[in-house]
This record gives sequence, structure tokens and C-alpha cells, in this order.
Amino acid sequence: KNIALLAGGYTGEYEVSINSAKNIAATLDSAEFKVYTILINRDSWFYESAGGKIGVDKNDFSLTIDGDKVKFDAAFITVHGTPGEDGKLQGYLDMLGIPYNTCDAATSALTMNKANTKTIVHGIKHLHTAKSLRLFKKDLHDVTTVSATLRFPLFIKPNNGGSSVGMSKVHNVAELPGALEKAFHEDSQILVEEFIEGREFSIGIARLDHHLTVLPATEIITHKEFFDYEAKYTPGASKEITPADLTAEQNETIQEIVTEVYLRLNCKGMVRVDFILQKQTSDFYFIEINTTPGQSAASLIPQQVRAAGLDLQKFYGDIINGAAN
Ligand code: DAL
Ligand code: MG
Repeated sequence: KNIALLAGGYTGEYEVSINSAKNIAATLDSAEFKVYTILINRDSWFYESAGGKIGVDKNDFSLTIDGDKVKFDAAFITVHGTPGEDGKLQGYLDMLGIPYNTCDAATSALTMNKANTKTIVHGIKHLHTAKSLRLFKKDLHDVTTVSATLRFPLFIKPNNGGSSVGMSKVHNVAELPGALEKAFHEDSQILVEEFIEGREFSIGIARLDHHLTVLPATEIITHKEFFDYEAKYTPGASKEITPADLTAEQNETIQEIVTEVYLRLNCKGMVRVDFILQKQTSDFYFIEINTTPGQSAASLIPQQVRAAGLDLQKFYGDIINGAAN
């Protein structure tokens, strides 16, 4: 089978995507799957062959290599953020009838938006959501509404962002304008959320062979103030413990929650959901869902797959075969 592995994209997560693609290509490429890594840039989509860059024919999503046309049986999207996590590439592939590994276009568009996602998962049993406000550019200087509605410290997040790009933790009203400005640099709407003190967990779930498989949870311990871009991608900057040290009951609860999140959002393929376990109440708070979760050698999903005793090549293979069914 010819697989188009789509990487790159238009956001600050470009490098993360390239690293995800390297790991997927090295793992998945086999007698069964011939993997072609295609870079998605604003001005061009291309495959880098030994002989140079070969542009993609967007009319039928094909390559012409040495005079031969190469078409794809399926696409493996590992673009983080737009246009691979927000439904755009999914919509394009739907129009051409090419199966792909991720959630469909509608779910991808919904889940890229953190505020909209919170409204859908709200009410799931045992799942809590932090109090928050959504701001648009016109509200940039409206720090009074924020400080009158929410309690500091707050997290300021680009509403459609990833990998903590443009994110800040603010402790008082004086820090707000700078943090809002930084987030608005990444996005036209931002989410302002009350900080939930507690332990951070992330847990993958995938539909493999028609069954939902919940992976072991990971606990993330960072010495930085939060798990920011640097803490996420600098080796040694944070500690990731898989499987996480949770009680049997907490494990059961988090697995139930993640399954319900997956079903309620009508997810497909593999996704990863991030939580905080609140310090005093031991309630799980929803942070967000990632529908093209990072796949670099150090990323959480590959760690969780290994901790589950599964084979990563088979895991990716099952996902791509599931997409084509
Ligand atoms: N947004 C990054 C890639 C992740 O969720 O893993
Ligand atoms: Mg994310």
C-alpha cells in the first residue's frame, strides 16, 4: 500500500510535525506500507526524493516519479495545527475519496477549538472543566471583564493552538495585557482559563481493529511553571512517567472519561486527552484533546504504546488499515 505521510503545516508546530513524521516513517515503512513523506507548506506541497523535490498534483493528490504516476491508498496526517488538525486536509481528502488516519473534518474542526470542545465534553460523568472566558481581538484591552469574572492565576491560550505556543500563565492583572497580546499574535480568539492546581496527566486512546484501546496514562512533571514548549521538547526538561502512578480507582475513572470523550466527540484513529487531577478534590479537569498527537520518538503516544506492551509498527498499521476500512 502506498501511504502519503503528511507533515509540516502553517503553525509554530512545524518542527514538531517534522519530528513526528520522521518517527512514523521509520516505524511504519515496511513491505506492507510504502511511506512517502509529503511536506505541506503554504506555497507548495512536495515529496523530497533522492533526485530533488517533486510537487504534488493537487487535482488527484498524486506524484509523478521518474515518469510514473504514484497514487495513494491512504493518508497518514501528522500535521499539528492548521491545516492538518482542524479539518482542512481531511475535507480535501474526503473530496478525493482518500481514507486517512484522523478524526473526520467536522470533529477535527470542532476539537481544534478549545472553547467549543469544552462545551461538548461538559457534563461527562466525573469530568470537570475550569471556569473560562473566550476573548476576541476587539476585547484585547478589556482586562476588567477578565479580572471581574475569573480568579487569578489564569492561563491564556490561543484558542486554536498547540504545543503551548503563545501560552502564558498570569498571576495578576498587570501581567494580563502582555499575555493577551502574545496569544493574539497566534490566533484571533483566545481562551482565558482559571488555573487548576494539581498533577497533569495525558492519555491516548485509539480505535484498533474495531475496538477502543485506552493506553496507559502518563504523568507529566515539569520544573518550569507549566508544561510549555521548551518543557515539552527539550530532552530532560520534564519528567514523563508512563504508566502514571494513579490508584486503581483513578485509573478506571480516567479510562472511563477518555472513552466517553472519544465517543461523544465522534473521534476516529488515535487521539490524546490532557487532564489535571485537582490537588484538594482529586477531580479530573479537562484541558484539551489533541487529534493529531505528537509522534516523535520521545512523544507521549509512542511511550504509552510501548508501556502497554504493544508494537508501535502494528499500532500505526492498525490505524491506517482501520482508516481504509
Ligand atoms: N500538539 C502536540 C503535537 C501534541 O498534542 O502532542
Ligand atoms: Mg495540544
